[in-house]
Amino acid sequence: MSLILFFIFAILQSSLSVDPSNFKTCEQSSFCKRCRSVKPGQSHYAIIPGSLNSYSDSVTLELVNKENQHKFDLKLTGLVKGNNFRLEIDEKQPLSPRYRVTDSLKETPTAGQIKVIDTNEQLTVSIGPNKAVFHSEPFRIDFYHNEILTTSVNSKGLMKFEELRSKPKPVESSENQEEQQPSVEDEPGTWEENFKSHHDSKPKGPEAVALDFSFPEADILFGIPEHADSFALRTTHGKGDPYRLYNLDVFEYELNSRMALYGSVPVLYGHGQRASAGVFWNNAAETWVDIHGPESNVVSSIVKFVSGSVKSDPYAAHFISESGVIDVFILMGPTPLDTFKQYTDITGTVPLPQQFALAYHQCRWNYNDQKDVITVSEKFDEYDIPMDTMWLDIEYTDNKKYFTWDKQKFGDSIEMIKNLTDLGRHLTIIIDPHIKREGGYFFHDDCTNKGYYTKNKDNNDYEGWCWPGSASYPDLFNPEVRKYFADQYLVENFKTYTKDVMIWNDMNEPSVFNGPEVTMLKDNLHFGGWEHRDVHNLYGHMQLVSTFDGLSRRDPNQRPFILSRAHFSGSQRYAAIWTGDNKADWEHLEHSIKMCLSESVAGFSFCGSDVGGFFGNVEAELFRRWYQAAAFQPFFRSHAHIDTKRREPWLFPEETRLIIRDALRKRYSYLPLWYTMFYEHETVGLPVMRPMLAQYPHDKDAFAIDSQYLLQDKLLVRPVMQQGVNKVDVYFPVKDDKTGDLWYDIDNYQKYENTGYISVPVDENKIPIYQRGGTIVPKKERIRRSSPLMIHDPYTLIVALDKNHQAKGTLFIDDEKSYEYRSGKFIYTEFTFDKDTLRSKFIGTPKYSTNSWLERVVIAGLNRQPKQAKITYEGKTEELDILENAHGAITVRKPGSNMAKEFTIQLIY
Ligand code: NOJ
Repeated sequence: MSLILFFIFAILQSSLSVDPSNFKTCEQSSFCKRCRSVKPGQSHYAIIPGSLNSYSDSVTLELVNKENQHKFDLKLTGLVKGNNFRLEIDEKQPLSPRYRVTDSLKETPTAGQIKVIDTNEQLTVSIGPNKAVFHSEPFRIDFYHNEILTTSVNSKGLMKFEELRSKPKPVESSENQEEQQPSVEDEPGTWEENFKSHHDSKPKGPEAVALDFSFPEADILFGIPEHADSFALRTTHGKGDPYRLYNLDVFEYELNSRMALYGSVPVLYGHGQRASAGVFWNNAAETWVDIHGPESNVVSSIVKFVSGSVKSDPYAAHFISESGVIDVFILMGPTPLDTFKQYTDITGTVPLPQQFALAYHQCRWNYNDQKDVITVSEKFDEYDIPMDTMWLDIEYTDNKKYFTWDKQKFGDSIEMIKNLTDLGRHLTIIIDPHIKREGGYFFHDDCTNKGYYTKNKDNNDYEGWCWPGSASYPDLFNPEVRKYFADQYLVENFKTYTKDVMIWNDMNEPSVFNGPEVTMLKDNLHFGGWEHRDVHNLYGHMQLVSTFDGLSRRDPNQRPFILSRAHFSGSQRYAAIWTGDNKADWEHLEHSIKMCLSESVAGFSFCGSDVGGFFGNVEAELFRRWYQAAAFQPFFRSHAHIDTKRREPWLFPEETRLIIRDALRKRYSYLPLWYTMFYEHETVGLPVMRPMLAQYPHDKDAFAIDSQYLLQDKLLVRPVMQQGVNKVDVYFPVKDDKTGDLWYDIDNYQKYENTGYISVPVDENKIPIYQRGGTIVPKKERIRRSSPLMIHDPYTLIVALDKNHQAKGTLFIDDEKSYEYRSGKFIYTEFTFDKDTLRSKFIGTPKYSTNSWLERVVIAGLNRQPKQAKITYEGKTEELDILENAHGAITVRKPGSNMAKEFTIQLIY
């Protein structure tokens, strides 16, 4: 029977696109329906007078639900970093403890000194320039930056906190069958719930938490990935379903959709010209976010009534989670970059990847055998196309048993790996969390014997269906299980691979083909007695914690590279992510930017999409354009479904192959910039890929743009994403002083000085990308077969001048692989150009040496042509030649200075 089910599923997977009816709507999800039916203005929650306790870093209060007198503890803590606030609300005396998420946090955020002013009328808690003003009845908290109200909690009065109740005792019915005692106020689905053939026993009954956040200053809300939708969140209230956050394996997902996908990152931002703010809803249970837009005027007057002071009908987000507590961080801004940093201060940043991980990855489901892998790698060399990593999907295993190889096809895995590593390349292999239930398979035997599997509600090993057929799922919430899983990555355990092999964790939502909504039952049980319901969105995250530990112990001085499909807040500390099973069509190409922009502001700077589209055969034009777009996205991997035609670049006509080669070579030439940006991301906490509003927070016309983006504040990227076009509209943003920046086309240094949309011509080779005047970008222009082979190569600096003929930039150099940079072994240089002189100056003392030297400097934006240049370094001065470049730019030839030396280059007229 199960085998039949599996085949039906496999057939469905290969023939249909998503069937939304396989996934719940809010209406079909009892807790979402209950919470969404709360009407604005009806808040029953009030602060209990006299319940205030003040401490140096926090205040506590009691809340009461006036309907049933149930009591809650509230704590508001001031945080040192960013002067943010953390608001926690839990039941005063819950029947049993409620789940609190800690794994998302980088560490416990440090609390800071607060000031409390309690008059009879009002309680104010302040930290730095920020304050929280409490209103007792109905309960509401207003958060101000300076005197600007930026976020208001429960101003719509949608709070709901379902207290745990004893389950009504089953009674004998006339047919002598068990059924629940009917209850007058509880809707069907409250105490247990069915979806299709699946039953959820809900041992604890209803336990939802919900709260609304208004953003009076916001003109746009964004965040809460992962959805295949626009960067700007749409109004959902009264317009269909809310955005759903529930890690799911959605087959052939729809675009422009609020349906859940593989990852859930509950951070949301509200931005307007005067201020930015955000909320991080730290809850790992299924969550829906209903967006109320300013146009929902029907409720406007009621909102005013409840809130008293909210100035109009602002954007608001109503978070609804199935279980847990209310634990929310209020990110106080006031700029978008501030809020992004405040979020990564709490949940962490992407650690600096090895250089190769920022280069190009070649994947498909599947490379058939070791000969195939080696041949593909050789072909890249034959066609002189750079490539860093070959990937193996599930078919490399012995019948989907992870940590084994199919001996027929990969009998000499070590030799195959060596073949790649000899060329400076890497191999990445897939390890999924579902474990084949086959006696004799060590992993299954160990998990069975040691009780390591997730349990079903009756405390037996939970069995589901996935690639291996019958499978069970290690309980990764148990530290001992995580350690066991991690141990398998050690070379002494996995003897048929080497420490250079990196890991792809897939299907870790977890995907269960025969489970409700293709995942696990919510009443399954995890370590500590927690239900799967409480922790669902963290399951994949815990796999990453384990994999990261395994790879770190395997080789403590090599930075692990992991790619994950499922993710939650904080997963960025362990893995890169990609947008899952997209499709070979133009709209999916466009969504690669929208989706990665949303991920990027939610901490996931290391994001990409399957180049070419996973499903379907890609035609040449789309494939070329996809490579061109992805060459400027952080994670750059081609991947395809097993049923698609092979699509290595040389299988396309020569013209296409050459365009793809060009795009790849362009990526490799910018690797020093990528590497430096990721170092700065790790240390500073700002996204690498940024929406326009990040750098131009006052340019309202730019807020919702998601067809172009910025790399830091340096490059503006607007790839061609439509078929057959010969021009695209690029938006050049407006600065605070109402003027524009200067922008230089990276191909020919043509200058753009106007603001607004400008139509630029594109031929098939063109990737419209512009370097901002005022920046200096490092490159390497000798492209080799793989990035590790470029480590000693010389650098080029591209100096793009602003209107004052100035520019600055940075370069980070280390061994591109180890953790030694954390003990200072790096060279971090700041370049400045001013008064016709380029200067390099170290930030800190360099403790790393390099053979790399400065090969050329290109300067764009000079208004006269210098005759010569001279370089001074190590006490000597040399004259340098200058060549004319396109559009008035110049090239200073062979300055020759070693990159571990400071230098000055002066232009002479
Ligand atoms: C689903 C992943 O999203 C896809 O990239 C992969 O090829 C298949 N699983 C098979 O492992």
